[in-house]
Formats: sequence, C-alpha cells, structure tokens
Amino acid sequence: MEDKLWNCINKKNNNYIPIWFMRQAGRYLPEFREIRKNNQNFIKLCLNPNLINKITLQPLKRFDLDAAIIFSDILMIPYGLGQKVNFKKGFGPVLGDLNFNKIISTEPKKFIQKLSPVYKGIRKVKKNIKNKTLIGFVGGPWTILLYMLNKESPKKNFNFKKINKDKLLIKKLLKKIEQIICLHIDKQIEAGANIIQIFDSWAGLLPKKELPKYCYIPTLKIVNHVKSKKIPVICFPKDIGKNYIDFCSIVKPDCISIDYNLDPKWIKKKLNGTPVQGGLDPRILLKSKKIVKREAENYLNIFRNYPYIFNLGHGILPNTKPEIIKYIIQIVKNRM
Ligand code: CP3
Repeated sequence: MEDKLWNCINKKNNNYIPIWFMRQAGRYLPEFREIRKNNQNFIKLCLNPNLINKITLQPLKRFDLDAAIIFSDILMIPYGLGQKVNFKKGFGPVLGDLNFNKIISTEPKKFIQKLSPVYKGIRKVKKNIKNKTLIGFVGGPWTILLYMLNKESPKKNFNFKKINKDKLLIKKLLKKIEQIICLHIDKQIEAGANIIQIFDSWAGLLPKKELPKYCYIPTLKIVNHVKSKKIPVICFPKDIGKNYIDFCSIVKPDCISIDYNLDPKWIKKKLNGTPVQGGLDPRILLKSKKIVKREAENYLNIFRNYPYIFNLGHGILPNTKPEIIKYIIQIVKNRM
C-alpha cells in the first residue's frame, strides 16, 4: 500500500505534501450537522459503528484528502472508565463526579467492552479506505487527567494548585490513564488505524517546571508503546511555546504537530529534521481567499524540501466554509 503520510514521516518523499485537517469530520459540514440533529446524545453517536463510518468518510467524499481520522472523541476514555460524560449545547463537555475507586478498579476487559462499538466502527472505515491513511487518536495523559478532575473545559475555569493538591491520587490516576490510553491505542491499531496522534490540547496550561511530570514523561511512555508496534506517532503538545524543543528531544515523536502560536521558521531551525505537521491558524480560513492563499503558501515555503504534513494549528472552526477547505487543498496540490 502506498501511504502518503507514512512516506512523509519516514522521509521517503519530501516532494509530496500530504494533507488532512484536525476536525475534518465535524460541525462545519452540513451533512454532519444533519446527522447530529437526529443524534442529540454525542457519546451515543460516538458508539454507533455505522455512523462512525459514515461521519469519518464525509470529508473524504467531498475533498481530496490523504487521511481519514476516526470520528470519536478524546473523552471516550473517561467514559470507558465509568465517569459520566455529557456534551452541553453551547458549553462543551460536562463530566460527572470522579469516583476514584471505580476508575482505578476498571478492568481492561470492561473498558474494551464499553468501547467495542468504536473499534467496530474503525473496522468498517478501514474496509472503505483501502489506500489512505487511517488516523487513530487519544488525548494526552495530562489533557485526559485535566478533564477528569476539572469536569469541564479548563478554558474558563482552571487552577493548577487545585488540580495538583492530592499528589498520591494524581499519581495513581495518571498511571491508570497511561495504561488505558495504551490499551485504547492497541485496539484502534488492531481495528485498522495505521498512524496514531496524541492530542495534548491543554499542555500549554502547565507551568514549565511541571511539564516533565505531567507531559513529557507520561507522553514518552505512550510514544514508546506506539513505536513498539511499528506504527508512527504524531504528537500535538499544544501551546507549550519554546518548550516544543525539550518536548521533541525527550519524547522523540515520529512527527510533531505545531500550533499557530509557534514560529514555524524558528521550530524548523531548532529541530533536527523531525517531520512537522500543521501550524496554520484555523481563523485564517474565515478570511478571504487571497489571505488564505498567502498564509498557506507561507507554510509551504518555509517547509519546502522538509518532511511536512499540511494541516492547521488546531481544529477546523465550526463557521468555516467547506468551499475554503477545497480551495486550500488545491493550493497545496498545485505546489507539488
Ligand atoms: O478530527 C476529527 O475530525 C475527528 C474527531 C474528533 C472530535 N474530537 C469530534 C468532536 C477529534 C480528533 C476530537 C478531539 C478532541 N475532543 C480534543 C483534542 C483536540 C482539540 O480540539 O483540542 C478535545 C480537547 C476534545 C474534547 C471536546 N469534544 C470538546 C472540548 C468538545 C466541544 C467543543 C468543540 O470543540 O467542539 C467536543 C465535542 C466534539 N468532538 C465535536 C466533534 C465533532 C462537536 C460535537 C457537536 O457539538 O456537534
């Protein structure tokens, strides 16, 4: 099989720039919103193999993309560990109280059983995309821990001291989360995922001195696990700024996904050839075609003759026009 993302990450072809988008299956697509309207319970939707298949393939039907990313959510892990997860309209995720003993004592078998529709959905997708990359994903250990303890997005409500209070509890939870993340990755690979991305969306909230304990060391364990399966792993430790360098030298991901606050020229110079993904600010896609072209070409120029996967510096925003996605793909393809 010719896999464009594999070739790029393994530096087999620096002239082909693979392209996909974080949140390519989502609310900016009317066909997703149509399904969502009839499926008010988001977790239930993520547990419907037929709809997982359908939604995952929606963006590939419209656009010339090199990869599919499984339609799921990073919060399926707290769900699988027995914590309630709801998605409140206009607010985001709301998690139930954290029952420490229940979580720690969740057997792997029980977790797999609860999430088996996810793996069934991946198998369906795999049958439908024979020659494209299928990206499986997990949240980073810190981001998962944070949602479990904070019980909602930390965007408005976050206090590190409060999170870090009970050190023994944190240590045990983090260990459990690491194990379950590895298990969830294994099952996704078994079902057909051939690249794994780790979304550590809230790594940027950690004070610098806490990054090794909560981000680098737990992520390194996951990365080594994925590498042992001979599957490439892309890491996205969002918003850690200059610490991207420490992250890469300690964790050694096969590919590093950069956010839009990071200077792409600077990171390229500092990395020892580690393949890079993304960077473009998703808000650019809300602007005129002229600006979209200029900004996309800026990334293409900087990463010319460098292993680079075209993507954004975070997910596609819900108010993005599908037409602009088509346009930016054209720009990237015209470059090759
Ligand atoms: O990228 C894809 O197309 C695959 C699907 C995917 C979803 N969530 C579907 C989704 C992926 C990769 C995720 C990852 C995810 N989920 C992250 C990491 C990436 C990031 O955005 O930082 C995080 C932090 C979550 C948690 C989460 N899920 C939040 C905060 C929200 C609500 C706000 C938002 O951004 O949409 C969700 C809901 C969610 N996950 C939706 C989708 C399509 C929207 C559901 C809806 O309301 O219709």
